[in-house]
Amino acid sequence: MLMVFIGPPGVGKGTQAQRVSAHLGVPHLSTGELLREAKEAGTSWGVAAGQYMDAGQLVPDDLVVTMVAQRIDQPDCRKGCLLDGFPRTLPQGEALDQLLRERIRRLDVVVALDAPDDELVRRLIARAEIEHRPDDTPKTIVRRIEIYHERTEPLLAYYKRRGVLETVPGLGTPDEVFQRVAACVERRRP
Ligand code: AP5
Ligand code: MG
Repeated sequence: MLMVFIGPPGVGKGTQAQRVSAHLGVPHLSTGELLREAKEAGTSWGVAAGQYMDAGQLVPDDLVVTMVAQRIDQPDCRKGCLLDGFPRTLPQGEALDQLLRERIRRLDVVVALDAPDDELVRRLIARAEIEHRPDDTPKTIVRRIEIYHERTEPLLAYYKRRGVLETVPGLGTPDEVFQRVAACVERRRP
């Protein structure tokens, strides 16, 4: 099953993708995680990406698309994968379509998690106490949420037109949200 999680920072994409990944037995691919690993490893592109991330900006499309293309060609993605945080712009959405066409694969569902901005800020401020992500500062959190509304939200209409969009409220406990996500997955399972 090939699935995309879209949603603003802090809505629970990572939390839910991890659970769905265990449920379906397909890998969880978070572009944020892959980029943080590349930054940690000190590769030149990882370091360059890190500068965008720490400022709460999006990393350039071509870099992210190349990274995803390499990752989904790994053998563990043969039966599918869950993309968390990709695509995040319309050009990335178009690039994903192209990439899947070339591989004769199909996107089964796009799950859009949503929650009010003030809840997102609360969650990320709370996470900052535990995880110390460099982009979890009050100013950067607000910037990331703004960029989500400007650059990522237009993808919702793109996927709605294609008939693959499922919108899931992200409020409630992680278990409650998972029940909703799992129901969408079952409806869309090929
Ligand atoms: P990324 O790592 O994807 O960060 P993000 O989108 O800002 O989202 P988060 O990981 O902060 O939140 P989440 O939705 O995963 O929520 P989580 O489950 O952790 O990207 C980081 C950066 O990398 C980007 O800013 C950009 O620079 C770059 N990047 C990545 N992909 C890119 C792309 N495609 N193009 C360009 N640049 C890209 O939950 C958040 C917190 O809330 C946690 O503490 C969690 O425990 C808690 N929580 C979860 N669910 C609940 C719940 N139901 N109730 C209460 N608390 C909850
Ligand atoms: Mg995440």
